Amino acid sequence: VSAAIVHRLRAGRFRHVVFASGLGARRALDFGASAAGPHEQQSSRGKLSADESSFVRWLFRRGSLDVRHYRTETLHRRLAACLRALRASDVRDAKAMLVRDESLVPTALSAMVIGVTSFFRDSSVFDYLTVHVLPYLRKAEKPARIWCAACSDGDELYSVAMLLEELGLLDGVYLLGTDCRSDAIRRARLGSYDANSVRDVPAPWLEKYFVKAGNQYEISKKLRNVVQFRTADMVEICEPGWWDVILCRNAAMYLRPESAGRLWERYEQILRPGGHLVLGKAERPVGSTRLSAVSPCIYRRDRG
Ligand SMILES: C[S@@+](CC[C@H](N)C(=O)[O-])C[C@H]1O[C@@H](n2cnc3c(N)ncnc32)[C@H](O)[C@@H]1O
Repeated sequence: VSAAIVHRLRAGRFRHVVFASGLGARRALDFGASAAGPHEQQSSRGKLSADESSFVRWLFRRGSLDVRHYRTETLHRRLAACLRALRASDVRDAKAMLVRDESLVPTALSAMVIGVTSFFRDSSVFDYLTVHVLPYLRKAEKPARIWCAACSDGDELYSVAMLLEELGLLDGVYLLGTDCRSDAIRRARLGSYDANSVRDVPAPWLEKYFVKAGNQYEISKKLRNVVQFRTADMVEICEPGWWDVILCRNAAMYLRPESAGRLWERYEQILRPGGHLVLGKAERPVGSTRLSAVSPCIYRRDRG
């Protein structure tokens, strides 16, 4: 990366991102921390009863997901959150509510798989990408390709798009976001966010990349037009082609080790040599042989 870019980013706008790291550190946003209520934080070895199992299986099928990929302890913890979100007394009550009113299914599923996200979440990761990964995409012979698997409402991929635009690289990059929840993908395409989601966006970028509409912040047309989103189950569907960067953060931690292992195996096959895999703080590509850690949460595919 040219010294000029590093200097400009470190001295100028990038400073805001670094500053946001401090804020990010104070807010523990990960699934295991503040995303879960006090009850869910207790490490539970809980098992699901037969009724609970059947409800969770039914609910995941409604979302075209195979519940067998997910950790039982997580499902057990999240079931309590799901019942609370629906204000249901138990799983029978919850199922009756969902059958009566289908529009509640996304609320229930979101509580089970957790849709928590925000712009520049864990911003030290974005700091690293800005200095050590994204500038090098300029050298790629083909248009660079970035896939954000489990993108939720799109905050993460739009954050990357902003950094690319700041580096003058946005036009040459294909950006894809996928998530299993179609309601999240609808929101990502819409690109309208509340103040909480954009809390870590540096103020000048809030002006530059968003339009304020009432209490909402709408992502600029320029960013919205270059980013593509679609509904897809990351465990079952592998996006075709080679990728320069794959972000898959704070999602595989809910999966059983065998299912997460399948992801790592696939990702190391479809990353270009020298490409990067970006994971959440609690995730490691266990079993992979061609991915080397280059920074916390960031792995590079060996060139060989
Ligand atoms: C906690 S959010 C993480 C969002 C974002 N990656 C981040 O770190 O801020 C987890 C996301 O994983 C998605 N997810 C869970 N299982 C999935 C699957 N099998 N395929 C695709 N997305 C999945 C959920 O819908 C949710 O949006």
